[in-house]
Formats: sequence, C-alpha cells, structure tokens
Amino acid sequence: MDSSEVKSDNHKLVLHRGFSFISGTHDPDEVDQINNLEIRDTDVFVITYPKSGTIWLQQILRLIETRGDIPDSANMMNSDCVPWIELVGKVKEFITAPSPRLRVTHLQYKFMPLALSQKKGKVIYVARNPKDVLVSYFYFHKLATMLETPENFSIFFEKFIRGDVFGGCWFEHIKSWYSHKDDMNILFITYEEMVQNLHLVVKKISSFLGKDLTDQQQANVVKYSTFRNMKQIPQANYQLISDQLLDHQQGTFMRKGTIGDWKNHFTVAQSEKFDQVFQKEMKDFPLSFIWDMNDTV
Ligand code: PPS
Repeated sequence: MDSSEVKSDNHKLVLHRGFSFISGTHDPDEVDQINNLEIRDTDVFVITYPKSGTIWLQQILRLIETRGDIPDSANMMNSDCVPWIELVGKVKEFITAPSPRLRVTHLQYKFMPLALSQKKGKVIYVARNPKDVLVSYFYFHKLATMLETPENFSIFFEKFIRGDVFGGCWFEHIKSWYSHKDDMNILFITYEEMVQNLHLVVKKISSFLGKDLTDQQQANVVKYSTFRNMKQIPQANYQLISDQLLDHQQGTFMRKGTIGDWKNHFTVAQSEKFDQVFQKEMKDFPLSFIWDMNDTV
C-alpha cells in the first residue's frame, strides 16, 4: 500500500493510490475492496467531485424510486438511503443490501467496481463548473469538522488548483470518468442544467434508469427536489447531521444553490489564472460548462 500522510494538524488527508482521502472518514483497505464488488443490473452509482450536486441527486434518486411520493421510510436520512460507498463500513453494507442499491461517491474511476466497465449497473456523472465548486468547497471546509478550516480564500484557491483537497484534482476527476464513458452505462449531466431546467434533467434521469414516470409523478419529483423545498426537508438537507461532523454555527450545507457565485469571490487575477489552467487542462474535453446564470449551452 502506498498510503502516506500529506498534511499534519488534526485534519489529515491521506494519499492512497494518488488520491487524497480523509483520515478516519475513509479506510484505504476498505476502499480497495470496491474494485472487486459484484454489481447487479439494478445498482446505480452517482459520481460527483465534491460540491457538485451529490445531495441533490440523493433526493432525486430516492424520489424517482417512490415515483414522486414521500416514501414510507420518510424519516430515514438520505445519507442512509443513498450512502457514499467510500465511507468506513459502507462496502460491507453494500454487499448484502437489497436492490436497488443506490450509491453516491466522490471517488475517481480507478477505485470503482471493475464490473461497471462491463456495462453492469448504471452510472450518473454530475459535473459542476469548477469555479462554483471551489467557492462551495471553501465554505464547506468551514462547516465540516473533518476538513481543515482554510486560513483565507486565496490559500484555499491555491490548494484547490493543486488538488490538495479531498477528491484530488477536479480536472483529473472529470477526465478520468469521461475517458471511460464508452465502457459504461453512463449518463453525464451538469449541475447547471439542473438549476436551469430541473424538469428536463429529472426526465433524463428517470428515462436513463428505465423508470416510466407519469407527468404528475415527474412533477412531484421536481417539486420535492427544488432548492427551496429541499431546504425544508431535514432528511435531505443535512441539518440533522451531528455537530461533531458539521459545525452548524458556521453555515448550512444548502448554501446558495446557484450558478456564478464565484464572481462574488474570485479576484480578476484569480479568475484569469483559473481560466488559464482550465484551458490547458480541458483543451481536448468536448463538453462545455455554464459559468453564469444567463449562459446557455
Ligand atoms: S458534498 O459535500 O460533496 O456532498 O456536496 P454536494 O451535495 O455535492 O454539493 C453541495 C452543493 O449543492 C447545492 N445543492 C443544491 N443546489 C440547487 N438545488 C438543490 N436542490 C440543491 N441541493 C444541494 C448546495 O447548496 C451546495 O452548493 P452551494 O453553492 O454551496 O450552495
């Protein structure tokens, strides 16, 4: 195993197979078991770089499963119904869980079940423009007790560009998944499409999952997964997560839910620097991103 500590203090990132994990939150030995998991056709994995819409998809998947009804298990937390596969204890749970096994993950492609590339199960990759990801992640570092509170925005900006955060380098993450897209049953969507036309994206997702929802059922899924409504649903919005994990005094998980907040945080110089890195890293990447609420693709 090539695990080594890359940060000191009491919030340790542990480098394992070239990817930064959080000490105590992830166990590299358990993560290594994911590659060999048997996959059922009904398994669904949502893949996100952190802060790209993970909890939004947890809510949508759960609602699609119940055809837009509030589930009988409504008091259960979304984090228990659609858990992160890479968290300590979750691999074991996955093996015996009943179908459909709905999971989210921030892992890069190389850690995932090899069976996915034999077109077993389904994969949904949610991408978000990385400037907004950076801002959202900055605030999340203040909230999440397992992550180091950044000294200031500039320092976090540099760390993010270097990939010195849990989830590693944003560019590598999306490219690693995209380059294997033809091997998998995969749907690529963006956070921005969801903000701009949630109805359309919910339709895309339910059709990809083979769920034939009526118009009314679709409308209910959309209704209970809007930013405004999710903010009122404790099982979906993470307000019930213990203070030991999230310091609720520092803010909320569902912060702004918008496109282009980076403009309120980046200096002109930071934006130019980011654009240069983006152009270099993404020059051969075919998908485009939405950076402003008024942009369309
Ligand atoms: S995590 O910690 O990686 O799981 O975070 P993640 O869920 O991927 O991303 C959190 C951001 O998603 C926003 N969010 C939403 N936006 C719009 N509509 C809905 N329904 C919604 N649900 C979650 C959340 O507000 C975070 O973004 P920011 O920009 O910080 O508001």
